[in-house]
Amino acid sequence: MKRHLLSAADLSRDDAELVLATADEMRSLADRPIKKLPALRGRTVVNLFFEDSTRTRISFEAAAKRLSADVINFSAKGSSLSKGESLKDTALTLEAMGADAVVVRHGASGAPHLLAHSGWVRSSVVNAGDGTHEHPTQALLDAFTMWKHLGESKPGGLEGRRIAIVGDVLHSRVARSNALLLRTLGAEVTLVAPPTLLPVGIEGWPVETSYDLDGVLPKADAVMMLRVQRERMHGGFFPTAREYSRRYGLDGKRMAMLQDHTIVMHPGPMVRGMEITADVADSDRSVIVEQVTNGVAVRMAVLYLLLGGSEPAVGGEE
Ligand code: NCD
Repeated sequence: MKRHLLSAADLSRDDAELVLATADEMRSLADRPIKKLPALRGRTVVNLFFEDSTRTRISFEAAAKRLSADVINFSAKGSSLSKGESLKDTALTLEAMGADAVVVRHGASGAPHLLAHSGWVRSSVVNAGDGTHEHPTQALLDAFTMWKHLGESKPGGLEGRRIAIVGDVLHSRVARSNALLLRTLGAEVTLVAPPTLLPVGIEGWPVETSYDLDGVLPKADAVMMLRVQRERMHGGFFPTAREYSRRYGLDGKRMAMLQDHTIVMHPGPMVRGMEITADVADSDRSVIVEQVTNGVAVRMAVLYLLLGGSEPAVGGEE
């Protein structure tokens, strides 16, 4: 593994499979009476969140705590950032406090790269979502969830599996990271979106594209719905919300087109009634809540591997 996790492309197939296998061990901890491991005792993990987040921030916090690390949560609101402090000064402050890992979410694409490569901090940097660019730990938890359902938890288990990623690909860091990681793991990805919500340069991505959701659904092994990211939209990308849902939303009627084993995913937060109807989100095929549970195990694996866990993580009880 490299020292930082900035992009899903930082992971070779061996790295990605090591994270999944380690996450699988971490996941088994949840069934033990004592859910905590001493692996990162004495290490400090800083969660640096410049953008709103529910799942990702809590997930990293739970992950670090289950590994016995000290956790410092730093959010832009209520900090000196609202007084105009720069990323550099914030980074120098973290360094002065001895952070071993900095988990960063930022509205600007590339902010975690700047932090990792500026020389301001010596810690490992984990990208927890940067602008419309990448969100590698989300891709890892999604792959882990698919691996559990479609790949029997075996290395290579996603080879040849067909994954449809549907919706606002243009503004989605989740889509980009998933496309890269799933390709690394041998899966076949189809991005489904209206032409206005596919990025320029999509030809260079390792994926197929389609504007026709009904044509793609019957072949998919997993369907990942994306939120329409209105906060990043300046202008009209589709005529009306109703028209968008009609063409690109997943409802009960469309769900009936899926194969029996096909799972439905969503990174959250969901807008029920827009990209997914409530009956689909709450159906037996939906693994959306499981994705959140798996997120903690995957982030434990990432923190453990980045911070140099050479001993087996799960073994003796504390
Ligand atoms: C996503 C994000 O923030 O990129 N959510 C998440 O991390 N679970 C997707 C989104 O905001 O729609």
